[in-house]
Amino acid sequence: MAFDFDTPTNRLATDSIRWDSFNSKEVLPLWLADMDFQSPPCVIEAVSNRVQQGIYGYTHSPHQMNAMIADYLQEQYQWQVDPDWIVILPSVVSGLYSAVQQLTNKDESVLVPNPIYHHLRLACSSANRQIQEMPLELQDGRWVLPVNQLTNLITNKTRLALFCNPQNPGSTVFTREELKEFGNFCLENHLWICSDEIHAGLVLDENKKHIPLASISKDISEKTITLMSLNKTFNFPGIGLAWAVAENPILRKAIQVGLHQTIAPPSLLAYTTTMAAIKDGEPWRQELIQYLRGNRDLIQEKINSIKGLSVCKMEGSYLAWIDCTNLHHQNPYQLFLDHGLATSPGSQFNREQFVRLNFGTQRSRLDQALNIIESCAKR
Ligand SMILES: Cc1ncc(COP(=O)(O)O)c(C=O)c1O
Repeated sequence: MAFDFDTPTNRLATDSIRWDSFNSKEVLPLWLADMDFQSPPCVIEAVSNRVQQGIYGYTHSPHQMNAMIADYLQEQYQWQVDPDWIVILPSVVSGLYSAVQQLTNKDESVLVPNPIYHHLRLACSSANRQIQEMPLELQDGRWVLPVNQLTNLITNKTRLALFCNPQNPGSTVFTREELKEFGNFCLENHLWICSDEIHAGLVLDENKKHIPLASISKDISEKTITLMSLNKTFNFPGIGLAWAVAENPILRKAIQVGLHQTIAPPSLLAYTTTMAAIKDGEPWRQELIQYLRGNRDLIQEKINSIKGLSVCKMEGSYLAWIDCTNLHHQNPYQLFLDHGLATSPGSQFNREQFVRLNFGTQRSRLDQALNIIESCAKR
């Protein structure tokens, strides 16, 4: 490998939320979704060069930015996007909150997958919107959305569907057929769609590709805001930049409300990191995927061999969604924490008997985590 993913990095002097939330001598913190790897050398170099300029005045998005993103989407996903459809945002989460606030009124409701990354739910509850849960089902080891069971959720107040692909938690990379079915269901029921595709660059399954929901058809594209970012893939969420793609000018206008007012623009280094990753980050990303596949295979083998635990197919990203139901422990998260491993509690995603393990880490740390889980399960 040309890049080093295997030597443990030191996160202790970096004000890391993940590492500083626990005593690192006692707890291995594999919870919050950032990785323990350095960002790609091309990103580090670009940031260093920009810092050396010493000029940090108010900065607009570089003129070539939207065209670079559009070319990237074409190259990575064969998705043809007009650069004018792109709105630069500071983060995906701010885009989620804006979409819910702008596309629905106070007494209206939003379809939200369950389980789901907590900010999709919070974006609704904080704005006093009703949440209508779309329960995911485990079919052939994959968490999927049974679209034929969604019709009875629809009322005359349902306005918007939130979607997450690749799914967090659960790591499903939805197929073209699955996307078509869900997109058409939303069209038939006159729903706007907001699709969070932040994990798009992290497809691990050799037989799968990320397909943007809005790329399925022009009709679906007209109804959809797609939220994307390179924060996860290239591991710079502390700098942070995201973008929305919306073909429909109504949706574009909605996602811009509050930008540069209550929602701060990205910092100048955010433009630098994203552009460097687009321009020169691909060889690093390819090796990252290989390394994460190794971690995924290790987890799959180990967890599924432990009595009381199981894990689904991990098609994308670095977050293992572990089912502890048959461990028959009232709080699996606490059990692992008490023995030195911090995971994300399933309760954060609406499923108490699960934990989410971040495997975006060095193999030695992952081995340590799996050994803790195994010894807890044997007790
Ligand atoms: C599905 C999903 N969306 C959004 C985010 C956060 O994105 P951002 O840091 O750009 O706000 C995360 C982070 O874990 C995530 O998993």
